[in-house]
Amino acid sequence: MTILRFHQLPSSLSIAFSSRHERSFSGSSELVALTPRRNQCWRYSPLKSSNGSPLAGASWKDDGKEMPVPKGPDIGSQLTENTVSITVVGASGDLAKKKIFPALFALYYEDYLPQHFTVFGYARSKLTDDELRDTISKTLTCRVDKRENCSDKMEQFLQRCFYHSGQYGSEVDFCELDNKLKEKEEGKTANRLFYLSIPPNIFVDVVRGASRSASSLKGWTRFIVEKPFGRDSESSSELTRCLKMYLTEEQIFRIDHYLGKELVENLSVLRFANLVFEPLWSRNYIRNVQLIFSEDFGTEGRGGYFDHYGIIRDIMQNHLLQILALFAMETPVSLDAEDIRNEKVKVLRSMRVLKLDDVVVGQYKGHTKGGKSFPAYTDDPTVPKGSLTPTFAAAALFIDNARWDGVPFLMKAGKALHRRGAEIRVQFRHVPGNLYKRKFGTDLDKATNELVIRVQPNEAIYLKINNKVPGLSMRLDSSNLNLLYSERYPREIPDAYERLLLDAIEGERRLFIRSDELDAAWAIFSPLLRELEEKKVVPELYPYGSRGPVGAHYLAAKYNVRWGDLSDSS
Ligand code: NDP
Ligand code: BG6
Repeated sequence: MTILRFHQLPSSLSIAFSSRHERSFSGSSELVALTPRRNQCWRYSPLKSSNGSPLAGASWKDDGKEMPVPKGPDIGSQLTENTVSITVVGASGDLAKKKIFPALFALYYEDYLPQHFTVFGYARSKLTDDELRDTISKTLTCRVDKRENCSDKMEQFLQRCFYHSGQYGSEVDFCELDNKLKEKEEGKTANRLFYLSIPPNIFVDVVRGASRSASSLKGWTRFIVEKPFGRDSESSSELTRCLKMYLTEEQIFRIDHYLGKELVENLSVLRFANLVFEPLWSRNYIRNVQLIFSEDFGTEGRGGYFDHYGIIRDIMQNHLLQILALFAMETPVSLDAEDIRNEKVKVLRSMRVLKLDDVVVGQYKGHTKGGKSFPAYTDDPTVPKGSLTPTFAAAALFIDNARWDGVPFLMKAGKALHRRGAEIRVQFRHVPGNLYKRKFGTDLDKATNELVIRVQPNEAIYLKINNKVPGLSMRLDSSNLNLLYSERYPREIPDAYERLLLDAIEGERRLFIRSDELDAAWAIFSPLLRELEEKKVVPELYPYGSRGPVGAHYLAAKYNVRWGDLSDSS
């Protein structure tokens, strides 16, 4: 893979910088080069991928083969002669409408897509181009801070969106798609991205058809694969094996959208760019780490999918475990994707296999509050009666390495709880021989520091410290050093899918899951999942809108921990 760098530019080019994008990406500059002979202007993309490398919007990277750095004035024509075609497979579905098309539009709106690009929707539903445009236009939104020309931009974007109706297993249909793509690509070097926004049972059919009949002949071809990547170690390995019959690992981008969230991205910055945190980041100072996910709504509308997976597969084995790996990894050699993924996989492989004794499962039951009734999980018509699928789980995980030996990593994830949120809580040890311990009475828990990274909503990082209450008496309380994103950074935070789509277009793999990471993640959870199913473990019922099953408190207490999100001053 080659990235054209500034120093590789031919000396015959004159160069000018513009800071058009500084407002959105600090430190990034747009490089415009004028070829003296033809006076032709091309742009060196101002974009930054998530590892901070300059991105070449016109794609100077290529899978598997070295792209020669062009010499002399031809460089301009080569850059503008590339194009990217993005095909959203499953375009009629929920995720495509809710997340993928809006993210593509947001990238276009902020000038982050290459100059030449086309978006295709592919699904079985019979739609015309205009019908697709009409459907997706309803979910496109403009950035609050840049409202001007929004409808013009939206119209321009929609004119680049097309639709092709086809069967997922039909190579003939993908061949027809290929013809349409070629027509739009107009003989340019075509790079193609397929987004599999479809149920997992048809992943392989689509990959077979699209890779055989609609791969790019000159440029790269990549596939973004949505979760779930299997149900356990065996099915996941089988999926990987089947995908690799048609694709190389470099072509597969396994998405975990939590890795695209701003505060998850910031985890490494917080750790590795601040002297104050990294020395404390170990069993010597950290008592426990909590990874908490909660939603204040049930599985409404997705019960059919959910019942086959349950909360452990839906949230813990991927979203929370990925955060844990980033949180706990050693310093990577560099910010390159392979260096980071190597460190993450080491953490996952050092983790203890999860045992049933260290897990609590729950399921929400119906509840009436203020005259309003909320359904039970099993009231969903797409959920089988008597289903034992957990909608809540709490677990205690351990990393058996030198840094984290004995530190409980507590996870908690649930649907239909009292609030929506995702956060990381780091509870520090007590201050040894604390001079002020009497000021806290007997509750020493209140005297420990806690670092909270609130992933959503209302993104924030805050540190609970002990502080003297102003006045003549010596009274202490717990206060927050608070970095509230909405106050410090009033600009709207991009959706995770925007970052991930941009990275996939740029071939930046850092935020995508490598197959060995996936194997290691399943190895931690698969035996437990099998045991839960074989023993038909009955989940503890909790009312819709509550704080979840009481069992979660007992599990935490077993490790001398209190859930930070449920304390008075959370
Ligand atoms: P949908 O169930 O809406 O399916 C997407 C499209 O696939 C449908 O519009 C339909 O298109 C086609 N399809 C659905 N069922 C079948 C089937 N049994 N056989 C063949 N085609 C079918 O899925 P979502 O959009 O909700 O999700 C897409 C993927 O993303 C899934 O893998 C899901 O697990 C994952 N995901 C979804 C999230 C969400 O919030 N929705 C969140 C995270 C991941 P047509 O009939 O027109 O061919
Ligand atoms: C998905 C799960 O991966 O993440 C859903 O399948 C869940 O069940 C969703 O609702 C949560 O994502 P977010 O970004 O809304 O927190």
